Amino acid sequence: MPIAGAEKASPETAPQLEVRRLAYSDLPVVLSIERRSFPAPWSISMFAHELSKPSSVCLAAVEAVRVVGYLVCTRYHDVWHLMSVAVVPDRRRRGIAAELVTCLLAETRSAGARYTLEVRASNRAAIAMYEGMGFRRAGVRNRYYSDNGEDALIMWRDAPAVAEAPAAVEA
Ligand SMILES: CC(C)(COP(=O)(O)OP(=O)(O)OC[C@H]1O[C@@H](n2cnc3c(N)ncnc32)[C@H](O)[C@@H]1OP(=O)(O)O)[C@@H](O)C(=O)NCCC(=O)NCCS
Repeated sequence: MPIAGAEKASPETAPQLEVRRLAYSDLPVVLSIERRSFPAPWSISMFAHELSKPSSVCLAAVEAVRVVGYLVCTRYHDVWHLMSVAVVPDRRRRGIAAELVTCLLAETRSAGARYTLEVRASNRAAIAMYEGMGFRRAGVRNRYYSDNGEDALIMWRDAPAVAEAPAAVEA
């Protein structure tokens, strides 16, 4: 079901964007995007595990009936860990990842909520997107990624203000 505030006004020919909960039936498409997006992609069982956890928020960005992006986030106490965001290569730079993060903030907004993530130090696109969404650099985990020994940048964000992320009608 659509999440309130998730419908993005789009220029004439662009399909309408809807953000809704990710479903198990989306996983084949998610895996195909994942494999084109990450050097060490998650397996289907990793996504299924996140979907099964009550403490996770997993969102799909959909244009017409096509899943074009997804986001996975898990809560530990008051801290939301943004585990994964990806957009299919041919639909990037259209605000889809930003819309997914905006919807996450709306879905999870509560007093004292904080958000954190790790991102490859070389991933300039993702770092720029997260900074645009209010995340700030807070440190480095040396050689965090085992596939190539790359450092992870640690980023944090405080709870959004009410005006910034209106509450969703339904989860
Ligand atoms: C990172 C990623 C999710 C961004 O998705 P997206 O839908 O293209 O991002 P958006 O269109 O919402 O971009 C929002 C802003 O982020 C910044 N940004 C996004 N991609 C960028 C790029 N390639 N270079 C520079 N800035 C970029 C821009 O400021 C952009 O706003 P603008 O287009 O108005 O300039 C996408 O590139 C992707 O799937 N990458 C592979 C997976 C990945 O790295 N995920 C993050 C792992 S932590």
